[in-house]
Amino acid sequence: MSILKIARLGHPILQKIASQVDDYGDPEIKKIISDMIETLEDVGGIGLAAPQVHVSKRIVIFFVPESRIEDEKDQVELTIMINPEIRPLNDKINRDWEACLSIPNLMGAVERYSHIKYSWFDANGKYFEREASGYHARVVQHECDHLDGKLYPFRITDLSMFGFQEEINSNIELLERGRIVSSDNKMLRTPNA
Ligand code: NI
Repeated sequence: MSILKIARLGHPILQKIASQVDDYGDPEIKKIISDMIETLEDVGGIGLAAPQVHVSKRIVIFFVPESRIEDEKDQVELTIMINPEIRPLNDKINRDWEACLSIPNLMGAVERYSHIKYSWFDANGKYFEREASGYHARVVQHECDHLDGKLYPFRITDLSMFGFQEEINSNIELLERGRIVSSDNKMLRTPNA
């Protein structure tokens, strides 16, 4: 296993559409996944998409730790997704803060679907699906966006809610005043994904 270098905003690999994985049993794919897990642990992040480690393939890993949610039952174990797909369950949208391992020290408020259904294949080619809402749904949408070459700042509609984590976290109430930010996710200031 090895710790991989994370591509940062501006690197073209982050804007490429990643290719589908055709051979689930490929040892190369298994190696990428174990390196991604080690890299995510090393940086202390929540989620990582393969393009962020310079591999333009549709692979994402993420988890939802207890520290990021209010209800223990919403915890999600480390999930390894190959060829994931997302569909919104309704039109409901919420706006909340996001950060990204490819954009160190910054954060911004981004609109995402509140309720989604998503599916994926594991490393053995087995199909899974889940429903998600709130923070869980946000992380999945953020990570899968990486597979389509999209980074969260591309989705920010109000750039006055984008800046350095240090500044925003010290002025969060002032910034959120009069603006619509989801109240479900108040604890989640810097979900590095
Ligand atoms: Ni990210």
